[in-house]
Amino acid sequence: MAKKIGIIVGSLRKDSFNKIIAETFEGLLPDGYEVVWIEIGDLPLYNEDLDHDDVPAAWQRLRDTAKTVDGVMFFTPEYNRSVPAAIKNAIDVGSRPMGQNVWGGKPAVVVTASPGAIGGFGANHHLRQSLTFVDMPTLQQPEAYIGNIPQHMDGNHFDEPTTGFFEIILNAYLKFLNRFVD
Ligand code: FNR
Repeated sequence: MAKKIGIIVGSLRKDSFNKIIAETFEGLLPDGYEVVWIEIGDLPLYNEDLDHDDVPAAWQRLRDTAKTVDGVMFFTPEYNRSVPAAIKNAIDVGSRPMGQNVWGGKPAVVVTASPGAIGGFGANHHLRQSLTFVDMPTLQQPEAYIGNIPQHMDGNHFDEPTTGFFEIILNAYLKFLNRFVD
């Protein structure tokens, strides 16, 4: 049976570089893996009251979907040297109600990309801080900070060194995932 890999993209804009990178990773996946896109753009902001009264349908969808995947690949820009609120909100929603964290034990990889030179380093590490707490083992090496991204693209295609780097990250992640998933 194919292993299921969730993809979460931290940017909501339609022409997002991070989304294009995520789609490229999807295209590079070998046989035996299936991608599940985990949408986060329509999740109401986490409010604990709603978990007692009337759970929003979009929260339930995220939780149900996340439960089905074997691991998660995160692709995100950096906003003000941290993660976009949308991705933090998705992690918060999936982590609750207390004791029903859907993320626990699922191996993750964090890829950050930016038109800037630093490649989303700040977002990458802020995201890792939350992933540690929600108990997602996360690939540590190689690290994936993709800087100056438009210079490596022609339309939706990446130059050869960048694509080669994506393959290195993906292969390392799949090897890591398979340490945890039969
Ligand atoms: C940014 N951007 C940005 N870039 C960066 O390298 N470090 C940063 O701290 C920030 N901060 C930031 C805040 C906000 C609110 C926005 C909207 C943007 C620029 C960002 O990297 C750029 O818009 C990317 O293109 C966003 O990624 P997507 O949407 O292309 O995936």
